[in-house]
Amino acid sequence: MNDDNNQSANRAHWSSTFGFIMAAAGSAVGLGNLWKFPYLVGQNGGSAFIVIYAILLVFIGVPLVIAEITIGRFGQLNPVGSYGLISPRLKWVGAMGLVTGFILLSFYPVVGGWILYYLYHSFVAFGENPDYAKIFTEYTSDPYWPCITLLIFSLMNYIIVALGVEKGIEKYSKIMMPALLVILIVVAIRTITLKNGLEGMRFIFQPDFTKVTGKTILDAVGQVFFSLSLGMGALMTYGSYLSKKDNLFKSSISIPFIDTIVALLATVAIMPAVFAFGFKPTAGPALIFITLPAVFDQMPMGSFISIIFFTLMLFAALTSSISMLEGLVSYITDKRHLNRFWATTLVSVVIFLLGIPCALSFGKLSNITIFSGKSIFDSMDFLASNILLPFGGIMLAICVGWIWDGGLRYETIIVRNQKGNPDVVTNGYVFNTCLKEITNHGTLNFPFMSAWIFIIKWVAPIVVFTIFIDNL
Ligand code: PFF
Repeated sequence: MNDDNNQSANRAHWSSTFGFIMAAAGSAVGLGNLWKFPYLVGQNGGSAFIVIYAILLVFIGVPLVIAEITIGRFGQLNPVGSYGLISPRLKWVGAMGLVTGFILLSFYPVVGGWILYYLYHSFVAFGENPDYAKIFTEYTSDPYWPCITLLIFSLMNYIIVALGVEKGIEKYSKIMMPALLVILIVVAIRTITLKNGLEGMRFIFQPDFTKVTGKTILDAVGQVFFSLSLGMGALMTYGSYLSKKDNLFKSSISIPFIDTIVALLATVAIMPAVFAFGFKPTAGPALIFITLPAVFDQMPMGSFISIIFFTLMLFAALTSSISMLEGLVSYITDKRHLNRFWATTLVSVVIFLLGIPCALSFGKLSNITIFSGKSIFDSMDFLASNILLPFGGIMLAICVGWIWDGGLRYETIIVRNQKGNPDVVTNGYVFNTCLKEITNHGTLNFPFMSAWIFIIKWVAPIVVFTIFIDNL
């Protein structure tokens, strides 16, 4: 066994399927659902965006989630090790996922820090008649505050991952995820019942296809990958802690399901309030940090709602960022270079240092631009969400569809009798390692298998590649 494939006999596992689902759904449900999705809906014609997103989710996102978790559970290793088991030549795909992890972790915790700042100010008001646009700009361009809040968020992330899979990630996800759902429902009920709240609902559910452009489709694809935590090996790592007895198909599909419900609930919790108080739904990334605090100010019980809303955001951001960190930590611990404590410490220090330029990119470093005028923060987001994750998705589809154990293929098997004439002719998919992994060696049913195979081999790589090239 080579170094990457040091499969430890006592590798951690989830204590239950529920624990896995909560942790994996926790990875998927994050800022992508509560921050990005509502503002993308606001900018791209309400439910017109939702319809496009849903189509891409069902036909590309869900099949790829199954594929990624399958490789993880098969390999029982970090992404580099698991891809390496499929073919040693594929280790770079896993390694690219690790790089993506570092890039995501350079900007994601910065937003986690912003949430902490706003949570603090839900308790301690910003003062009389606050100008939220000014507050947001002043805070994000300050030379210290964004770094301090980044540090606090990174410490929380660090502690949970250092505690380990079962005592840390699973335990906290099992508390935070259900709490998040309950809080979200409370906020949604509060906002829908506001005066004029129904106007927001109309906006969400009446599609305006005139707002749909090529960019809408790009945004939707990027959002599918980002929101499902797909394409960098986070789900693969979580899948690697899944027991060989679990029903992989069932556990996998609950993740996109929960993810989508939360994204829709978040939109329902935000839009009616925005309309009720005469704000525009098209505020973009500032929707949560500029528009919503103003909405909360005008709302009965607003400061209480603000506290629970930002607590919810904090939970969601944490359960996602721990999954990014876990991918990197599992690589180091699988290779047994360091134990979990030191691996988590090392990676956390590195990503905190990487986060500082992103945290400062709205102030001191705002004059530094990387991709065509984009700030450091925006460039990292663009690189990870619009390039590396979709590219990771294409490679994932190619590996499973075409490379792993000869690829997914259909064969006609002819059994001949003694005279050499065809006796039995059967058509069917070759039951290769991948299909054996999904069905627990044929003991479990795999619904929609043919459709899944067709998507993994053809639809996913071609569609994502086309959009990807267009994007570049
Ligand atoms: N899915 C997370 C969100 O919606 O906020 C973001 C994310 C987590 C992306 C983990 C990628 C990842 F590996």
